Amino acid sequence: MIDRVQAFYGLERPPFGRASLAPGMLHKHASHNEAVARITWCITNHALGVVTGEVGAGKTVALRAAIAGLDAARYTPIYIPNPAIGMRGLYEAIVATLGGSPSYRTASLMAQANDALAAEVAERGRVPVIVLDESHLLAHEELDAVRMITNCEMDSTTPFAVLMIGQPTLRKKMKLGVLAALDQRIAVRCQMLPMDLEETDSYVKHHTKLAGRTDALFTDDAIHMIHTTGRGLPRAVNNLALQSLIAAFTAEKSLVDEASARIAVNEYLATD
Ligand SMILES: Nc1ncnc2c1ncn2[C@@H]1O[C@H](COP(=O)(O)OP(=O)(O)OP(=O)(O)O)[C@@H](O)[C@H]1O
Ligand SMILES: [Mg+2]
Repeated sequence: MIDRVQAFYGLERPPFGRASLAPGMLHKHASHNEAVARITWCITNHALGVVTGEVGAGKTVALRAAIAGLDAARYTPIYIPNPAIGMRGLYEAIVATLGGSPSYRTASLMAQANDALAAEVAERGRVPVIVLDESHLLAHEELDAVRMITNCEMDSTTPFAVLMIGQPTLRKKMKLGVLAALDQRIAVRCQMLPMDLEETDSYVKHHTKLAGRTDALFTDDAIHMIHTTGRGLPRAVNNLALQSLIAAFTAEKSLVDEASARIAVNEYLATD
């Protein structure tokens, strides 16, 4: 189906695809740029940063863009895609990524993780960057493990950086009880806001251009409808734009108009 859509609209590649884009191909809207800048600051200053945003706001994309912009010889990312792996799991991931074999005794594993983090800088001259994606899923015990890893001031003398990325509930979670100590160490907070209408418009044009079409494919009305329903969140906008394109194709229309977008929106709302 999608190859027929592609041929019909003269596209060289599937538009709005799920494949991850190279950093140079990303759309640079305000919240993306700001998140990349803050994440980069956090890493280069060996600080603790928290990035929150709704589902599909572009958090992981911004994080990957920031990491790709670093000098690979000077930083070692320790990327934990789903940190709900228990306290041991967190320490094991750190030790294993830094080339050690994790001890099976929990007390020595903790010390081993701390030593491995310190040695990475001292012996290899590389700063570890611990990234906990989907951090809103962290249980209290795991957040406490993060608190213990960051049991220092987290300033330029700290030999590593920590980034916690997650949905907005993460912010509230970190203010509770013993975790307030963790909350106080946060040097960078960044909430990724959705795109505004103008940005969604330019975002959709950017994606169609990446697919090989330079002229407008979506009418302003269609963009407006996609923006309102997708609330300017990149993943939702991608999905809605693709479904609108398919609806336009089915109706053999040369442009994606409001009626095509409406079909996509109705389907989207029905499955929500
Ligand atoms: N700056 C961008 N340029 C181009 N596409 C983007 C950009 N930001 C996000 N996207 C698109 O939106 C999708 C969702 O982004 P991402 O996975 O970063 O969201 P997220 O906030 O991490 O979501 P989740 O809460 O589900 O983890 C990406 O797969 C990509 O297709
Ligand atoms: Mg993500």
